[in-house]
Amino acid sequence: MPAPKTFHVKSFGCQMNVYDGERMAELMTADGLVAADAGDADLVVLNTCHIREKATEKVYSDIGRIRKVARAQGRAPMIAVAGCVAQAEGPEIVARAKVDVVVGPQAYHNLPALVRQAAAGEHSIDTDLLALAKFAKLPRRRRVGPSAFLTVQEGCDKFCTYCVVPYTRGAEISRPFAAIVDEAKALVDAGAREITLLGQNVNAWESDGHGLHDLIRALDRIPGLARLRYTTSHPNDMSQGLIDAHRDVETLMPFLHLPVQAGSDRVLRAMNRSHTRDSYLRLLDRIRAARPDIALSGDFIIGFPGETEAEFAETLGLVDAVGYAQAFSFKYSPRPGTPAATMADQVAPEAMDDRLQRLQAALNRDQQAFNTASVGRTCPILIERQGKLPGQMLGKSPWLQSVHLTTAATIGDLVDVDLIRADPNSLAGVERVRVAA
Ligand code: 5AD
Ligand code: SF4
Repeated sequence: MPAPKTFHVKSFGCQMNVYDGERMAELMTADGLVAADAGDADLVVLNTCHIREKATEKVYSDIGRIRKVARAQGRAPMIAVAGCVAQAEGPEIVARAKVDVVVGPQAYHNLPALVRQAAAGEHSIDTDLLALAKFAKLPRRRRVGPSAFLTVQEGCDKFCTYCVVPYTRGAEISRPFAAIVDEAKALVDAGAREITLLGQNVNAWESDGHGLHDLIRALDRIPGLARLRYTTSHPNDMSQGLIDAHRDVETLMPFLHLPVQAGSDRVLRAMNRSHTRDSYLRLLDRIRAARPDIALSGDFIIGFPGETEAEFAETLGLVDAVGYAQAFSFKYSPRPGTPAATMADQVAPEAMDDRLQRLQAALNRDQQAFNTASVGRTCPILIERQGKLPGQMLGKSPWLQSVHLTTAATIGDLVDVDLIRADPNSLAGVERVRVAA
């Protein structure tokens, strides 16, 4: 197989995969390859997600589709599987799908070398879990959009009984303070106005006795950086320092993704969540006391083994009590090697469908209510891209809502906007005309 000259990276799953995918593209570019569309590239990197079975199966159907389209054009691109499926299944992927390269999320700095090895005719597999090794080998950030991701923490020690992350991303590990500040400065130089700090347990980040709130206060001082966000947090790592930062740090946006997963204490215990319904609600009270306008987001799993209708009703009740600005909800998916996969009383598919529908109806209702309540507010919008209509631009509010408006502002600008209407998935805004004093 000739060495590829063009590449395409396709990322699935979480924001950390988006970050990793961008870093892989930067590595390949630094190695002399040129970015191309999926349909033209000599090398296709599938940066995969293992969190639910559907996400995993998608990889195999994607490989089949890519090969079929390429074959019709007389091509046979090199295929690399990266990300969490690569980590979890390793050599099995080569056996099942005959791909050329398999590289895990902690080893992708070796991607260029693995691609060369594959071009020389050997399948190459690297699923080392050497945490942090990759970061020192990645090129400096050069060009990014106005809103950029920055991985500060990886892995998980919490071992929720449903979850593969401790196995695919390894143990909790924090990048050092100075390396993060450096990368943040490089991102701002490369065009970022907003940085979202990423970690599977981002609020467990810790370096030399500093916590995430210290990092946030340091990043707040970078000239040109207008907004900070972080995701995903665990309720048990929500320190008072971090809560205080939501009160004090102006660049820290009033938005918090704080998954609760379920509303029943019995289910939370079986999930090994180590917080209760009540401790979660009391935590939210403290966060809201520090930052009353904070928009809350969450993740929910319905149909965890043994979940009864009454226990599911407790989840609905919790949703009512919180009033989420947005949230994600999933049917429980048994994952190989996790304790919950072999628990008794797996919930029937019909009950799953019914519960998911009811939960999503409640979450949609609350999202609508939150957006409707924003109408009449004036706030800065970070312009991120062009809209479909002439002169229309799309951006985000401090509360992470999508806002569309007609403006002469360009990508990366912050404009003051009156929110005038809540549409189903976004808000309409009108730019404030500044009257000279
Ligand atoms: N089944 C369904 N959803 C899951 N999640 C994690 N593991 C599973 C699973 N086995 C959800 C959780 C988590 C989000 C990223 O994915 O809600 O917060
Ligand atoms: Fe999916 Fe989790 Fe891996 Fe992200 S870390 S890609 S959510 S399995």
